[in-house]
Amino acid sequence: MLEVRGLSHRYPNGTEALAEFDVSVRAGELVIVLGGNGSGKTTLLRCIARALDPAAGAVRVNGTDLTRLSGEKLRRARLDLAVISQHAALVRRRSVLANVATGALGRHATLWTALGGLPAGELEAAHRHLAEVGLDHLARQRAGTLSGGQAQRVAIARALAQHPRVLLADEPVASLDPEAAEDIMRLLRRLAAEEHLAVLCVLHQVELAYRYADRVVGIRAGRVAFDLPCAEVSREAVHRLYLSEAA
Ligand SMILES: Nc1ncnc2c1ncn2[C@@H]1O[C@H](COP(=O)(O)OP(=O)(O)OP(=O)(O)O)[C@@H](O)[C@H]1O
Ligand SMILES: [Mg+2]
Repeated sequence: MLEVRGLSHRYPNGTEALAEFDVSVRAGELVIVLGGNGSGKTTLLRCIARALDPAAGAVRVNGTDLTRLSGEKLRRARLDLAVISQHAALVRRRSVLANVATGALGRHATLWTALGGLPAGELEAAHRHLAEVGLDHLARQRAGTLSGGQAQRVAIARALAQHPRVLLADEPVASLDPEAAEDIMRLLRRLAAEEHLAVLCVLHQVELAYRYADRVVGIRAGRVAFDLPCAEVSREAVHRLYLSEAA
């Protein structure tokens, strides 16, 4: 499980983007973060994944505090966290299967990557992960030919190849049509349940949050505004997230 406690971050220009933020996500749970533009959602995910060094706070994955690790121990621990974002960022000229298999590279660092390849078992695994997202039939196709929804599924399969415990998703449906967006949210919820992943997902689509979240966390000016089971989140509380600071 993912446990974030007191996470804070200030950018070098003085912007306090995240302040004493707490959030927990259990294995099997889909938690959705809602908040206005600039409220600190991406900063939160980047601090959790240690793409940014938080100024204070703890990020525990199954009890291990990532903020206290460095070097090889940090690299290993970060493999427990997979990240997907608005753009699938696939290597367009490579096959779908090859793109998925690159998700496994981090687990085989040094020896196999130095030899320029992966163990044969990883290609079979990549097929399995593609099947999990419903796209095994496209394994040989070039990634550059996929639709947006298909590309996002491949990015999710690539994340699965990493064998993460936690999946961090920053606006994963922002560039998808409504139907493809539903498909991706259904997939994230199913993966949380079936793969026992802890999924923390940032969205701007309030209706999708109501339909798919186990819990919803509201963020405003870098702080937790509410953290509630989906059924207890009022329209009013959500509305307040999007009012300007002056309001
Ligand atoms: N590299 C940076 N340097 C300085 N300030 C930054 C930087 N990145 C983000 N910020 C500021 O930090 C705050 C939070 O930004 P962040 O990107 O986390 O917001 P967000 O909730 O993800 O917004 P959006 O919904 O637009 O993606 C904003 O005030 C933003 O201007
Ligand atoms: Mg953002």
